[in-house]
Amino acid sequence: MEHTKHIWRISLLLVLLLAGGVLGRHFLIPESFGKAGFYRYNALIELMAKEPRHGAAGSCADCHDDKTAAKAEGKHSGVQCEVCHDVLSSHVLDDEKINDMAINRSYQLCANCHQELVARPDGMVQINLIEHLELEPSQAIPKEACLECHDSDEVHRP
Ligand code: HEC
Ligand code: HEC
Ligand code: HEC
Ligand code: HEC
Repeated sequence: MEHTKHIWRISLLLVLLLAGGVLGRHFLIPESFGKAGFYRYNALIELMAKEPRHGAAGSCADCHDDKTAAKAEGKHSGVQCEVCHDVLSSHVLDDEKINDMAINRSYQLCANCHQELVARPDGMVQINLIEHLELEPSQAIPKEACLECHDSDEVHRP
């Protein structure tokens, strides 16, 4: 018996580890985990209960038909209103305007898509900001530089 002591010790350790594992699994794994796959099923139900924030294409048209029609005829027809402004839910609730919609007049908005970058696809209209604005390289770009020439009408229907 004396010589098998270490076997008993290691067996006891293994049993304790196994029990710890089973208990830990029981308490740590969320209730609905694995119900339909390797994820927490209730997460889907929680996400589905959230109010959508984006309205997506056409959601501005009911109240801004002029802008929607103008944009559809311009080269920005493929750019959703919410990309340049903000999500519908920041502005409208139950078909009523609740807050002002954000208007980003910064040149950065346009630069996000039009600044010349080697990584952009060739088909994308790209400009060198400094050259296009005819600035000296040391000059800072004025914040609302683009809107001085590309006014609201042109931004929505370039
Ligand atoms: C490419 C970016 C861009 C897109 C896309 C865009 N907007 Fe704008 N929008 C602007 C900018 C920039 C201004 C500010 C213009 C200014 O002050 O001269 C503005 C201004 C406005 C204004 C204020 C009135 C005005 O004419 O200045 C409204 C209303 C508006 N946008 C609605 C919309 C709606 C509706 C859509 C989608 C149909 C849309 N916009 C899509 C960039 C955009
Ligand atoms: C339920 C109607 C409704 C919807 C839908 C709606 N708007 Fe408006 N919006 C208004 C009203 C009302 C005004 C204030 C009067 C105006 O400028 O026509 C306004 C004004 C604006 C303005 C000027 C700033 C301000 O808040 O006064 C912008 C920009 C604008 N909307 C963008 C959008 C965009 C982008 C969408 C879609 C994502 C949208 N709106 C959807 C009703 C609406
Ligand atoms: C989300 C990306 C995006 C943003 C932001 C954006 N644009 Fe554009 N713009 C485009 C796309 C896409 C086209 C169409 C390119 C094409 O014709 O293939 C375009 C086309 C244009 C054109 C017409 C180019 C031509 O072919 O003659 C002008 C001018 C223009 N944008 C100016 C602006 C200005 C000014 C702003 C900022 C107020 C702006 N854009 C913001 C994506 C964007
Ligand atoms: C001093 C006036 C002026 C300012 C400021 C200006 N633009 Fe332009 N932009 C023009 C003119 C003029 C054209 C040529 C229009 C045409 O040929 O249809 C043009 C054309 C463009 C084009 C199309 C280029 C092409 O190759 O077809 C884009 C994109 C553009 N501008 C974006 C911008 C952006 C972004 C800003 C702000 C950083 C800006 N512009 C500021 C006057 C200006």
